[in-house]
Formats: sequence, structure tokens, C-alpha cells
Amino acid sequence: MRDSNQKRCASVKYVGLDVEGEFKEQWFSRRARNLRFKKADARTFDGYENLSLVFSLFTLQFLPEKDRLALVTKIYED
Ligand SMILES: C[S@@+](CC[C@H](N)C(=O)[O-])C[C@H]1O[C@@H](n2cnc3c(N)ncnc32)[C@H](O)[C@@H]1O
Repeated sequence: MRDSNQKRCASVKYVGLDVEGEFKEQWFSRRARNLRFKKADARTFDGYENLSLVFSLFTLQFLPEKDRLALVTKIYED
């Protein structure tokens, strides 16, 4: 997503989340000045303020069903 959007809007900052640190190898292969990754649980992450867009790439469906609406509500309200 960052690569596709970079030419059009170079000032965007990207944050990727995953609760598992095992994906770190993937993160390092995608290094860029305006892209950072955090090991964090999306349900308790406290950095949703002032974001223009939040999207889940095959992540929301890995959360227990009971937690999904609360997470989307939290993102909307933060
Ligand atoms: C199918 S993988 C997708 C990984 C990555 N988004 C991608 O597209 O390559 C699903 C990911 O959801 C992550 N995940 C599951 N529960 C999570 C949570 N509560 N907070 C953040 N990430 C979570 C898992 O660790 C796993 O890496």
C-alpha cells in the first residue's frame, strides 16, 4: 500500500501492527523512511488518534468474534 501511494502522497506516515513478533523478518524487508511497524495487540493499541485511515489486512478475522465490534468502535472513537 505504501509503495503504491508513495508517488502520489509522499508525506503519509504508515504504521503496521501485529501482535506476533515472528513477522519481524517481513518488516525488515519493507524498510522505508515513513513506514514503521509495532508489535502490539490491535485491541489495546493506544495510537489510533489522528489517523486518516485504518485498515485490516487479513487481521480482523483472526480476532475472536466477540472482540471485533469493540475494536472497530474504539478506532472510530479514538
Ligand atoms: C493472516 S496474518 C496477516 C498478516 C499481515 N497483515 C499480512 O497481510 O501479511 C494474520 C495476522 O493477524 C495477527 N493478529 C491476530 N490477532 C491480532 C491482534 N489482536 N492484534 C494484532 N494482530 C493480530 C496475527 O499475529 C497474524 O500475523
